[in-house]
Amino acid sequence: MAIAFWINLAFLLAVVFFVWGLRLLSSPDTARKGNILAAAGMGLAILATLTMPMEGASNNYAWILGGMAVGGAIGWVASRKVAMTAMPQMVSIFNGLGGATAVVLAMVELMNLYNGDSHMEGGQLAISLAALVIGAVTFTGSMLAYLKLDGKVKDKHVTLPYHQALNILMLIATLALTVWVYLQGSGAGTNLALGLMVLSLVYGFSFVAPIGGADMPVVISLLNSFSGLSAAAAGFIYGSQVMIVGGILVGAAGTILTVLMCEAMNRSLLNVLIGGFGGGGSAAAQGDQTVREVSLTDAAIMLYYAQSVVFVPGYGLAVAQAQKVLKEVDDLLSANGVDVKYGIHPVAGRMPGHMNVLLAEADVPYPKLLDLDEANEALKSADVAVIVGANDVVNPSAETDPGSPIYGMPVLRVWEAKNVIVLKRSMNPGYAGIQNPLFFMDNTRMLFGDAKKTLTELATELKNM
Ligand code: TAP
Repeated sequence: MAIAFWINLAFLLAVVFFVWGLRLLSSPDTARKGNILAAAGMGLAILATLTMPMEGASNNYAWILGGMAVGGAIGWVASRKVAMTAMPQMVSIFNGLGGATAVVLAMVELMNLYNGDSHMEGGQLAISLAALVIGAVTFTGSMLAYLKLDGKVKDKHVTLPYHQALNILMLIATLALTVWVYLQGSGAGTNLALGLMVLSLVYGFSFVAPIGGADMPVVISLLNSFSGLSAAAAGFIYGSQVMIVGGILVGAAGTILTVLMCEAMNRSLLNVLIGGFGGGGSAAAQGDQTVREVSLTDAAIMLYYAQSVVFVPGYGLAVAQAQKVLKEVDDLLSANGVDVKYGIHPVAGRMPGHMNVLLAEADVPYPKLLDLDEANEALKSADVAVIVGANDVVNPSAETDPGSPIYGMPVLRVWEAKNVIVLKRSMNPGYAGIQNPLFFMDNTRMLFGDAKKTLTELATELKNM
């Protein structure tokens, strides 16, 4: 049978693997399998591409295999070394590199056109320019998002006065130049295309610069969808169905995630992009208010004799890697007849589903995990709410202080529980950089220390009761 048949069959199978893999990713129980399946689909697609006969050209195997070896080795080492807490940074880098690839592919095709080595029809030229622009915006935007998430760049260091107005002007200029380059057809020349690339790279950086604080989840998922769209556009350039489908799957998944993230933050996308939900934000001064601490023994007694306890995990749970010992505390309390639940905020942690992944790793039964609305209902009658390394997602200013950078974001109303115990190491703020009035409320008690250490000691206290 002709080789083309087998290659097309391999592409079809790869697409089936992508879709099936994505389906399996929707539950923590099957997510690992889904990831392996999608990776196998990608492997198959690469193999099929490499065996495609090239008319009148060589396959350049040495260059391709060399590039794959270098890139594969870097990816392998990086993903083995990366800490769970740094996963969002890694995803940002991957998104950015996807965008950079689209830029390189588009630039090569455009240069071929301008040098007279190839022809491009109107639609194909438009798609190449789209791949160039979206890819470039994705690249620099994602790299800046990585630097911000990693704490290497602070919002105030990259934000200029009237930055949003500047961004609107830059967006208009980028779109206008794209149309201009398109209208010039093959006469535009490489320099003009390079100019468009540089403008798009600068715009990508500038577009992410003023967005920060609690809005980062939305930007990351938006860049994720851009990386998919740029890959799909590059797929159109080469007429590669598998690239188009793969890119559209990423683009669609990223878009759905963006919508969900906007809902979780109670914000419209436009508002996120031009509203400036405040980067660092103003830390509302708490005057000379003091916080009240609780001893380990008192905390253990409070929990042991409670009827219902709601744990609210946040980024600190991931930092401390305290999920397994949290489950141990849960087991000890449940064995004593306490009704234990977990309140999961959609943007707790640093990536979508972060808390679900951590708790699944510790074998916490899924039915114990309550979403925002269910948790807020449960908190009304809970005896104790235990905050384990969460901060922004339990900040009452989101409801009470119109001046707060997170005003309007739905939060877990932990203060409605009879007692609140907060596990954290210090009075340092969370990601949005703002103070939390919860810590000063009458029914709140602080239990300072690393969450893993504190929970281990709590487990010991509970065992001795
Ligand atoms: P945060 O507001 O970032 O607060 C985390 C808290 O954990 C900090 O106050 C920190 O206080 C504490 N902590 C850190 N290490 C700890 C340890 N070893 N032991 C005990 N406590 C520790 O976390 P959150 O409430 O989960 O909110 C998430 C924030 O990240 C939101 O603003 C969200 O918008 C943003 N964000 C989310 C995402 C996604 S998609 N989830 C992506 C990007 C940004 P101490 O230093 O005093 O211990």
